[in-house]
Amino acid sequence: MSIEIQGLTKHYGATRAVDGIDLVLDDPVKVLALIGPSGGGKSTLLRLLGGLERPDAGSIRIDGTEVPHDEETLRVWRRRNGFLFQSFNLFPHLTALENIVLPLVEVHGWKRGEAGERARDVVARFGMSAHLEKHPAQLSGGQQQRIALARAMAHEPALLLLDEPTSALDPEMKAEVLDLIEELCQGGQRIILSTHEMGFARGSADAVVFLGGGKVVESGSATDLFDHPQSATVKTFLGKVMKW
Ligand SMILES: Nc1ncnc2c1ncn2[C@@H]1O[C@H](COP(=O)(O)OP(=O)(O)OP(=O)(O)O)[C@@H](O)[C@H]1O
Ligand SMILES: [Mg+2]
Repeated sequence: MSIEIQGLTKHYGATRAVDGIDLVLDDPVKVLALIGPSGGGKSTLLRLLGGLERPDAGSIRIDGTEVPHDEETLRVWRRRNGFLFQSFNLFPHLTALENIVLPLVEVHGWKRGEAGERARDVVARFGMSAHLEKHPAQLSGGQQQRIALARAMAHEPALLLLDEPTSALDPEMKAEVLDLIEELCQGGQRIILSTHEMGFARGSADAVVFLGGGKVVESGSATDLFDHPQSATVKTFLGKVMKW
């Protein structure tokens, strides 16, 4: 995909969460990783890309199509994407299966039978078939996140947006979920994710953007950013987080 961002700005009161971002990434970006310090603007930019929030100023084009500004068209934009957040966000009163089926039926207009079939397929692919009838509270964090990932991609989203999908998980579960995301990448799913997993960003993303203070500090290929960082900010950050 190609991404073109011009003058993108989103303020919360006095906080410049996204502060006049200009960025051009040419086709064929398949997996884009947003990295950088806490509070740098990663989640805000993801929400703007997915149409969950509207910018105060500026524009985003993905594959030449502008992310809409009016609420009605934005709703259509949101539906074509899939979202996964740091903290699972599964419906606690529904089974794993229903957590996937319900949005397919209610949001995407699928027939119940088709939705059930699709949900079972995706869950089987994620190795979770034994847990279909469990409620979220009966699942481990990694299992919940796999169900949430299944839900995010069940409708075959044009773009999958993942906001720190593994940060609430212990190392083993982290690895399981990263393997699944890697598999989706290999399968050609277009993904934009924010992550503190530098190894994953380096290995799986074909473009990396470093955000700090609401601005793009550096962007380029994973090799550019990780092996040849240009700015002192990125060098210092990587020096700290890659140390361990
Ligand atoms: N809904 C909101 N209301 C007020 N301030 C917000 C809101 N969302 C984000 N901010 C502020 O905007 C800035 C950017 O936040 P954002 O969540 O985008 O950062 P981030 O890079 O995702 O950080 P982290 O790595 O900790 O998730 C921060 O200073 C944050 O406090
Ligand atoms: Mg965030």
